[in-house]
Amino acid sequence: MKFQPFELEYHQSQWEQIVDYNLTESGVHPMRLDELVGGDGDLLERLMESEIGYPHVNGNPELRQNIARLYNGADISNVLVTVGAAEANHIIMQTLMEPGDELLTQTPTYKQVWGLALNAGHTVRTFKLQPDAGWTVDLEELRNNVNDKTKIIAVCNPNNPTGYIMTAAEMQAIVDAAASVGAWILADEVYSGAERIQEHETPSFFGMYDKVLALGSMSKAYGLPGLRVGWIVGPTEMLDTIWRRHEYTAITAGAISNKLAAYALSPEVRPRIMKRTRAYIQTGYPTLEAWMDKQDGLFSYTPPQASAVSFIKYNLDIDSTELMEILCREASVFVGSGNSFGMDHHLRIAFGQGKDVLLEALGRIENTLAKLS
Ligand SMILES: Cc1ncc(COP(=O)(O)O)c(C=O)c1O
Repeated sequence: MKFQPFELEYHQSQWEQIVDYNLTESGVHPMRLDELVGGDGDLLERLMESEIGYPHVNGNPELRQNIARLYNGADISNVLVTVGAAEANHIIMQTLMEPGDELLTQTPTYKQVWGLALNAGHTVRTFKLQPDAGWTVDLEELRNNVNDKTKIIAVCNPNNPTGYIMTAAEMQAIVDAAASVGAWILADEVYSGAERIQEHETPSFFGMYDKVLALGSMSKAYGLPGLRVGWIVGPTEMLDTIWRRHEYTAITAGAISNKLAAYALSPEVRPRIMKRTRAYIQTGYPTLEAWMDKQDGLFSYTPPQASAVSFIKYNLDIDSTELMEILCREASVFVGSGNSFGMDHHLRIAFGQGKDVLLEALGRIENTLAKLS
């Protein structure tokens, strides 16, 4: 069987460090270390004095405690810390999927679990977020595609790339579909906390059904992707089984990262970070929207409800991967191609940047597109 590369991350590897403007960061602009630590001399002293040894393999207890606090009904035994949500997705798939099992997942979506399932020889079925209906869930397709081989229903909520947040009824429909065949729900919730249109954070699937594995991460809503800290919240017994895979894959997340993540998620510091995130998202999007509306009907879109990206349909007869490459080469601006998320003729443009940077990058895209149309 031919290996299926992870196309989106492959493009990131190729382009993100060499372009002038990287508009693929789906979380907000990363924090500086001094912005996170601020003037907290105590923290600095504790960091300077810490031995850089192996931390707790399943995550340092203070960090796990601070994560558990974010989920109704969770305690520290329900939390496993991983190397980003990327490792979490990986070891969940390794643990749960057995020969003959099927994955049911959304489209468009972040295609990591999709690729992992295909590469392990599993059948992947999909259900749509409907482009012509505000990205709402195609519930009929969901119900039609669940069957007694479905081992996992994987959702990304809020969704990457559309920024769509499921309604309570849609979440319940996912739970009902999973419960009807005893499937697990893999709920990738890394954009929770990065809401644009509402103050409250997106509710978790955790607590709605007993077979839920909910994922979070420091990367997106906290602007700390370089910490490489993510987590799984789920039933203790299943987490213990997944932990056995974590020992093979990564052993543990980094020692300093565990400490910085615990600090960032502490009740004293977290509100400051969330405020920063919302400010980037709420000021960035109007800049992108005003620019799109100026482009003479070239783009159509449903505004994202969360995340720092917008998934935009363009009106040009050109494949989205080709267009992405032209923009990298000619404008030195990197955006996501729709193909990477399972939907051609779209671009995913990130707006969680400072306004000047965004305007300069969008101006370059405009000039390049003008030459194409
Ligand atoms: C939906 C989703 N899940 C997981 C990840 C991986 O994130 P992390 O940096 O936590 O490994 C990403 C990164 O883009 C993502 O968009």
